[in-house]
This record gives sequence, C-alpha cells and structure tokens, in this order.
Amino acid sequence: MKIKDVRVDFKNSLSEVYEEEEVMSFFYILSEEILKLRRVDVAIALEKEVSASEIVQFNEAKTRLLNQEPIQYIIGHTYFYGLCFIVNENVLIPRPETEELVDWILKDQESLESTIKILDIGTGSGCIAIALAKNLPNAKVYAMDISKQAIEVAKVNAIKNEVEVTCIHENILMCEDLTQEFDIIVSNPPYIRALEKKEIRPNVLDNEPHQALFVSDHDPLLFYEKITILAKRRLKFRGRLYFEINQYLGEETVTIIKSLGFESIILRKDLYGNNRMIQARKP
Ligand SMILES: C[S@@+](CC[C@H](N)C(=O)[O-])C[C@H]1O[C@@H](n2cnc3c(N)ncnc32)[C@H](O)[C@@H]1O
Repeated sequence: MKIKDVRVDFKNSLSEVYEEEEVMSFFYILSEEILKLRRVDVAIALEKEVSASEIVQFNEAKTRLLNQEPIQYIIGHTYFYGLCFIVNENVLIPRPETEELVDWILKDQESLESTIKILDIGTGSGCIAIALAKNLPNAKVYAMDISKQAIEVAKVNAIKNEVEVTCIHENILMCEDLTQEFDIIVSNPPYIRALEKKEIRPNVLDNEPHQALFVSDHDPLLFYEKITILAKRRLKFRGRLYFEINQYLGEETVTIIKSLGFESIILRKDLYGNNRMIQARKP
C-alpha cells in the first residue's frame, strides 16, 4: 500500500463522521507521527510504500477517530503556547482560549524583575502553570488539582518542558486556606452547566474528563466564589486574580467577584468574540 492509498482510505472511511478538511488534517497529523513526514513532504512522497506496522498504526488511529476520540489523545500530545504537552483521558485538552488568558497574564508582567509566586488552581495537564513558569523565570509556580492522575500528567509535563512547578493534590472546594501568599492566582475551573451539554461535541462529551468540564445548573459559579474568597485572604497587596469563565455568565461572574471585595475588574472577550476571561485586582 502506498501513502496515497492510505490517504484515499482515510477520506473514504472517515467522511461520514467528519468534514473532509478535518479528515485531511488528521491524516497529516498522523503522517507526521507515524511516517515522520511533514505535510509538505507527504505531497512529494505519495508513491512511497507504507510498511505493515505503519498501516496497523494508521488503522488503529482510524478506528479511534471513528469512535470520536480526539486526535490529541490518539497521538498523546498537543501544543499550548508553543510548548508540547502530554495529554490523556485524565486531563482536558488545552484550548486556544486558555492561551489567550496566559498571554494576558504574561503581558501584565512584562517588566517584571522581582520574584513572584503564582498559583494555578485546576491545573489539569499543567498547561497554564507550565507556560507561565517557562516565560517568567523569576516566578515560583504552584499547580493544584483534585485529580491525582492529572497531577501525574502535570508533573511529567513540567519535566518535559524543563520547568519547576510545585504540584499540589487538593480539592479547592474543601480547602479552608491557601496557607501562603501569592502575587497571582489563576484558574480555569470547570464551568459548563449541565444545560449546556447539548452544545458540546460528542468527541468532547464522550472522552474528556467530566470532572474537568461540568458544574451543576443550580450553582455554576461555585469555583469562582470559593477561589475568590481564598484569594481575598491570600493574594498579596495589589495581587491579581485571573479566571477563564463561562461565556454566558460573564456579568454574573463579575458581580460575584465584586461582591467579595475585589476592584478594577476587567471582563475580556476571546478571539471568537465571547466573554471568556476576567482579571481582578486586590485593593
Ligand atoms: C477546565 S479544566 C482546566 C485544566 C487546565 N487548567 C486547562 O486550562 O486546560 C478544570 C480542572 O479543574 C480540576 N478540578 C475539578 N474540580 C476540582 C476541585 N474541586 N479542586 C481542584 N481541582 C479541581 C479538574 O480535574 C480539571 O483538571
């Protein structure tokens, strides 16, 4: 079988489930993984024979794609803020909106010379904590998650990206005090309400950890309330709180943060035009 035959087979087998453009994008990602050929190189190697073991790998990936498994879980990694992160079914796949949040934090710290302490709550793969640690060599970064498996992934990702991040296995909702002071507290907590499940694509719903995604309809902002209460006590003078938020609950989230004593609250949209992140400053 030649590379061009594998490509045709991919198109034919997956076109009922995915758009053609998406199928081709999967094919090129897998070509890079399996054949070690970049997209531009595939175009000139279409007549090249594919080995039996490579065909097995393509077929396995095809079956998993047919089951709506995200391509990032299939290849086992993804990119976030220019860094490579290992991902598996225990962690949320980092999203581009979250890169915008990291970018906001980094831009706010541009002229930073002193040492600062940062806490990332609900770290998952560690993407926020590790991207910050990589770009702020003066920062001491802590990363917390309720999931032991996620903490293991975050630790591996910190080593892979050659940064030091202190990982904490803890349930923030049961936490009475953060025990030390921070200059920045950041969180992308679970924020999708059960009523929004119908908007979620099956590949997300069936594969990504529900503990990372969902909150109840009757108390969707519980993480924001709890984290803001803890931050009020443990953020340093003029310290900053950053959140990724539910696009439908922007104003409500601002109201909660304000009612708990923060000021200069900025609500920002993501690149899709949705209310997506908040910065609040401790007075
Ligand atoms: C939306 S994901 C964010 C993951 C990662 N920070 C990112 O931006 O891709 C939320 C994370 O919060 C964690 N989490 C859920 N409930 C938690 C709790 N009670 N205490 C601490 N972490 C929690 C989940 O395990 C998950 O990793």
